[in-house]
Amino acid sequence: MNDPIIFGQPHFGEEEVELVSRTIRSTWIGQGPLVEEFERKLATAVWADHVVAVSSCTTALELSLLAAGVGPGDEVITTPLTFVATVNAIECVGASPVLVDIDPATLLLTPEAVRAAVTDRTRAVIPVSFAGRPLDLAGFTALAEQHDVWIIEDAAHSVGAVAGGQPVGATRHPRLLTCFSFYPNKNLASAEGGAVTTADADLAARLRSLRLHGLDGDAWDRYRDRHYRPALATRVGRKANWTDLQAAIALPQLAKLEGFLATREHLAATYDELLAGHPDIRLIPRPPPSLAERHALHLYQVRVPVAHRDRVVHELRGESIGAAVHYPAVHHHPYYEPLAHPGLAAATLAGEELLSLPLHPGLGRRHLVRVADRLRHHLAG
Ligand SMILES: Cc1ncc(COP(=O)(O)O)c(C=O)c1O
Repeated sequence: MNDPIIFGQPHFGEEEVELVSRTIRSTWIGQGPLVEEFERKLATAVWADHVVAVSSCTTALELSLLAAGVGPGDEVITTPLTFVATVNAIECVGASPVLVDIDPATLLLTPEAVRAAVTDRTRAVIPVSFAGRPLDLAGFTALAEQHDVWIIEDAAHSVGAVAGGQPVGATRHPRLLTCFSFYPNKNLASAEGGAVTTADADLAARLRSLRLHGLDGDAWDRYRDRHYRPALATRVGRKANWTDLQAAIALPQLAKLEGFLATREHLAATYDELLAGHPDIRLIPRPPPSLAERHALHLYQVRVPVAHRDRVVHELRGESIGAAVHYPAVHHHPYYEPLAHPGLAAATLAGEELLSLPLHPGLGRRHLVRVADRLRHHLAG
């Protein structure tokens, strides 16, 4: 019996165990000094002026929209090829999601396609650096200037990616916010978590308040300040803060991120080699990693014929190989069917053809050989 090959297993070592234990022993497990340390270190790693850590990428997206003043009556343009969290965040602030089709080659939104869909109600665009592939951020920030809209990058998949010579998350424009996820299967794992990066100090202050009930301070502020005063609400906020216990897992992960990315690149190249040349498997070409562009390889995906995709996923999973689907197109979720329109052909097809194969730093060549053999076998059947 072969060991299960898990789809996206986090990779922890003694560093995480040690810091989590130390944090528990300190008794300060809520939001405090480790959250601040993580925010500072992530800011350095991705060249961000300000980082605000929150409970998830979903809340990072929602708070970003709120902080940007997006609400009822506003339209927010996004991609149909994303996790439902992206559109849910738009709905949760009372705005209307508008779906624009992806470029079939990169699976990403392009500034050109988005520009054609901008109306006088458009207040924000949420492009997704899907699978870890960097977006044309120069094009999107130009669009922000021309149309006075916010760009809120959903970078749940792309911590560690490089776009236009800068890390994803770099604060290259005042109207660009970047949202990361630290969900357990993400490139940088914790027990849930997210973060927003921004160039704007006022916006960062708004986000800090929004993540904690709209208050003007947190418990750590009160603890370390010798002149106690109760925190006061200056707006309506959410309960979306992060905790030191989660930061205790994420801090060592951040230190190991570069090594994880190198392993992911190596594994993806191995999959390319093992799967090339099969008539029913279409590889998705990636630009080679360079100082200008780097794919973060959160997902390794291939395209297979629609008629086989769901059966093959089912059969691989039956053999404990964690194949998965990312994602059914947004307009195929019953709640979001009203967002469908005839101009979404590329995302619709991608949602039916894409197959994600197991990818995480704990895998080696022998695992990938087994995945590739079984995929070829099931496609033949
Ligand atoms: C594209 C995308 N956006 C947002 C999210 C939400 O992230 P989180 O689970 O941290 O809320 C996910 C989660 O998988 C995602 O894939």
